Amino acid sequence: MLAGKRVTLIIGGGIAAYKCLDLIRQLRRAGAMVTPVMTRAASEFVTPLSVAALAGMQVYQHLFDLKDEAEMGHIQLSRLSDLLVVAPATADLMAKMAQGHADDLATTLLMATDKPVLIAPAMNVRMWEHPATQRNLAQLQADGIAIIGPDSGDMACGEYGPGRMAEPEAILATITKHLTSGPLSGKRILVTSGPTHEPIDPVRYIANRSSGAQGTALARALRDLGADVIFVTGPANVPPPDGVTVHRVETAREMLAATEAALPVDAAIFAAAVADWRVENNFTQKMKKTTQGIPALKFSENPDILATIAAHPRRPRLVIGFAAETETVVAHAQAKRARKGCDWIVANDVSAATGIMGGTENAVHLISEEGVEDWPRLPKADVARRLAQRIAEALA
Ligand code: C5P
Repeated sequence: MLAGKRVTLIIGGGIAAYKCLDLIRQLRRAGAMVTPVMTRAASEFVTPLSVAALAGMQVYQHLFDLKDEAEMGHIQLSRLSDLLVVAPATADLMAKMAQGHADDLATTLLMATDKPVLIAPAMNVRMWEHPATQRNLAQLQADGIAIIGPDSGDMACGEYGPGRMAEPEAILATITKHLTSGPLSGKRILVTSGPTHEPIDPVRYIANRSSGAQGTALARALRDLGADVIFVTGPANVPPPDGVTVHRVETAREMLAATEAALPVDAAIFAAAVADWRVENNFTQKMKKTTQGIPALKFSENPDILATIAAHPRRPRLVIGFAAETETVVAHAQAKRARKGCDWIVANDVSAATGIMGGTENAVHLISEEGVEDWPRLPKADVARRLAQRIAEALA
């Protein structure tokens, strides 16, 4: 996917530098040419020999290296790539970039370049949260620098929180998005996915069997065509794809709020299996068995997210709903398309015998104003690719 693309990878001095070895492998496997540059501190964490061996080319390290400068001057090096990636971007490197320092090869390249720059910050959680780092981050964003991560989780220093460098797969997905253009480049597309959880009390909830697989596959397929994907997901069984903006929610009402906050978008696809009802009298304490008998749950109706967005003042150009039915699939779905005010309905039979709900395949009918198309039974990833292609045609 990155054949012929040239990436200059500036490796900063942090423990996450080891992940760059994998990133280089993944970039090369995708067809990119990687020119590695290391700061002095980076070589304390990984050896230039390992980096050079994986990149299949020499590592540039020193600004005042007569041999390097004669072969390829630093100005040329800074421009001879399609994208500069800084990973890990340490607090110090971010500060230097924000201030415009140019006191070593890495910072000089970053000052001299006329190419886009992507940084993957990685540092201790307190350093990340420090006002100075947040100030520098805001400056770098204002300067048009793209940021990926950091992730939250256990850190090498033993603490927990934001500061872990994004994983190589996620960095690769972001690089791919920067360097490739597809039919959906520049388009913002929202996908809802997964089930919702509606609380009964602090430990119990009402859920459904949706795995989130179809919505996730769709988000991935749209991303692969170049779309900017906003992925609003309930508690799904499958992880969200890399390279999309993820908003995690639990309840239908949270899903509606996250969806409305994402507007305006060019298209919105509602693949989530949203609970129709929530427990109105949900309990703030865990319910106990009592002598008063079995508790009665009182339900109230959840907002219909699809119908709300289809009638919204900022309605997307293309609104697509799903219809999971267990009988008279097409007729029910046609009625649903009219009732909800959406453009297309992707209808499928989820009766137990089909094994579709929670399974890996799907057999859908695409229902639009033009009529009904019956698609063959396909892996969910293929259904997603086909649908993404149709969306690209509709938005072209
Ligand atoms: O009415 P039904 O649940 O069958 O409709 C399915 C479609 O409507 C799906 O696209 C689903 O994501 C969406 N939906 C919604 N909000 C709800 C219920 C369903 O967005 N509360």
